[in-house]
Amino acid sequence: MTKIIWMTDPHFQKEGLIGDLNPRTRLQAAIDHMNTHHADAAFLVLSGDLVGKNYMDDYAGIASALAQSKIPVYPLIGNNDDRASFRAHLPLPTDVADEFIQYRLATNDAQIPCLDTHMTGSHAGQFCETRRDWLKNALTDTPTYIFMHHPPMGLHLPQQDTIKLQDGSAFLDMISTGGNVRHIFIGHVHRPTSGTVRGIPFATLGALSFQAPAPQPAWDWDSFVPAREAPHYGVLYIVDGNVTLQYTQFCAYELGIET
Ligand SMILES: [Fe+2]
Repeated sequence: MTKIIWMTDPHFQKEGLIGDLNPRTRLQAAIDHMNTHHADAAFLVLSGDLVGKNYMDDYAGIASALAQSKIPVYPLIGNNDDRASFRAHLPLPTDVADEFIQYRLATNDAQIPCLDTHMTGSHAGQFCETRRDWLKNALTDTPTYIFMHHPPMGLHLPQQDTIKLQDGSAFLDMISTGGNVRHIFIGHVHRPTSGTVRGIPFATLGALSFQAPAPQPAWDWDSFVPAREAPHYGVLYIVDGNVTLQYTQFCAYELGIET
């Protein structure tokens, strides 16, 4: 059995608020909750948007917050991240690729590619030639569970769907015709969804920071107001190829709201 903790989108800032939200308080609550209740997990995967504004100091801040974790932490890069600052401050596995921040985790019976879908200067994601080659080489007969920041397909979330992975069909063609991909885990959308794509199950997760509202009533980025929903993280169990994801609330909505 492999137990994995999955968190996403902390949007850490060393100072200040995101609207009325203190992202430091939420991250600390998540780490404390995980250390208290899930210190037996194999590791924590953090699926991108570690910071919100690419400030070097924010990476130093989140690195020291994550250092409190009792289990190893594996961070992915999101649209709001910056590769150079990310590499400069966060411990990464030794097999991390040169050009992109992607690497393969392994358990005794599975492999877990963690992808870099960041596109410099854009909130949408990218699956370029170099990254296609890397993933193609990573796809083997071993049961495979992929973590990535950008969804490779639309999710009926009109606003988030405008900033999904741009080359999503190439990604879906690859994982549905080769290898042994059993599940995809996706950040970015700040909202829990699940389903299948080309027959492969996927899940997204609410953010550690602010939550995106449901698509109706309609909203857009200019009028964006976060949903008054509590944050959560995922507790994943992979047992004999079977996957369970428990959405786990770690604090009340009010925690970290400063008015
Ligand atoms: Fe985000």
